[in-house]
Amino acid sequence: MRISVIGCGYLGAVHAACMAKLGHDVVGIDVDSEKIDALAASKSPFYEPGLDQLLEEVQATGRLSFTNDMAHAAGSSVHFICVGTPQKSGENGADMRFVDAATHALLEHLAPGDIVVGKSTVPVGTAARLASDIHRRQPEAHLVWNPEFLREGHAVADTLSPDRFVYGVDGGSEDHPAVAVLDEVYSVPLSAGTPRLITDHATAELVKTAANSFLATKISFINAMAELCEASGADVSRLADAIGLDDRIGRKFLNAGIGFGGGCLPKDIRAFMARAGELGADQALTFLREVDAINMRRRSRVVEVTRDLCDDSLLGKRITVLGAAFKPESDDVRDSPALSIAAQLQLQGAVVTVTDPKALPNAAKRFPELHYEADPLKAATKADAILLLTEWPVFRDLDPYELAANVTVPRILDGRNVLDAAKWRAAGWTYRGLGRP
Ligand code: UDX
Repeated sequence: MRISVIGCGYLGAVHAACMAKLGHDVVGIDVDSEKIDALAASKSPFYEPGLDQLLEEVQATGRLSFTNDMAHAAGSSVHFICVGTPQKSGENGADMRFVDAATHALLEHLAPGDIVVGKSTVPVGTAARLASDIHRRQPEAHLVWNPEFLREGHAVADTLSPDRFVYGVDGGSEDHPAVAVLDEVYSVPLSAGTPRLITDHATAELVKTAANSFLATKISFINAMAELCEASGADVSRLADAIGLDDRIGRKFLNAGIGFGGGCLPKDIRAFMARAGELGADQALTFLREVDAINMRRRSRVVEVTRDLCDDSLLGKRITVLGAAFKPESDDVRDSPALSIAAQLQLQGAVVTVTDPKALPNAAKRFPELHYEADPLKAATKADAILLLTEWPVFRDLDPYELAANVTVPRILDGRNVLDAAKWRAAGWTYRGLGRP
């Protein structure tokens, strides 16, 4: 099939490459020429494991091209909308400018029978609104809402073999003409047994925000338990292991630490609350305010534990922060708890050096006032305290003896509870976890 993918960021670039991998002819379209040039040269503009190789592989087949000209969408029978919906500046709601602009720019290129597929995370009600815009311009085109659940760092595998497909179509019926078209797009993963659910537009939109809200709630739940563990001397990691063995609860997403960040969970729960308010259902989501508050408290808690670790004063203390990305295997620093903690420590008088295997260029753009060093051992030179804030394997595998030789005082705060406390203590370190004795 000929497919266009509009928006080539974290979601769209991966989606375009994966659709070509599935055998389709794909054109990726984005207004950012720099991004397009990089992608056309098989260079991902961001770090995502396996993406550069995949781009190279599919571009060699001639099935994938990139352009900044929307006119190239004409001739595709399926058009994926993959642009971002960031948080509005100064408000909780989602900024819909990019989705609206991309959809409206596409309208004049739609032919009868074309399917527009929304993948961006949007406030419920958006699809109905866009569907009527599309209908006015091209009555024989259809809109499907097909939310994307990929995780950064696993984006290629999550796109090629997702947990499930959700198709939101007008009326929510299997017989909707768009269903068969989308089944053809995804025929490879569907034939491998990936479940697919047909819903109406609103349900499909809500599936995505509900899933992200549930994940955020799970993380904040365990971080609230960490607060209780801190108050009572208990160990939140063992607590999570024990409750996680109940398969109704499950151990995944119960890692307590510095909390969640990134370009999705924080802004999605806020946009969800804002939308619920518009719908007169704000009470239903007041708990998400608490989820957000627990999450943000983790960051101040780390600053306080660091102060405590540094003999009650941060002034002039040299702090090394291991990790800038919001999670490992990503160079994404959007709402990164690690960077936000690093910046707060610097504001309170510490001299902060940040190291990260991939995210330093993005981090330096966002917080130019921090110091950056690519080599973790050099970054730790003369440190008064080390903070492990993003659990990259290279940081988890650091040798406590080797690191001790570089620092002024061997003190470590394990913000992700991933280090073996006994091993670090045996090497002479003062070890602090979060929610652990
Ligand atoms: C998330 C959803 O998982 C994905 O389905 C959706 O499509 C987009 O949003 P992503 O933002 O890539 O994906 O990251 P995710 O792996 O969900 O992690 C989010 C944040 O939660 C990270 O900062 C991570 O460090 C944190 N986290 C995760 C925890 O603090 N504890 C956990 O147990 C799990």
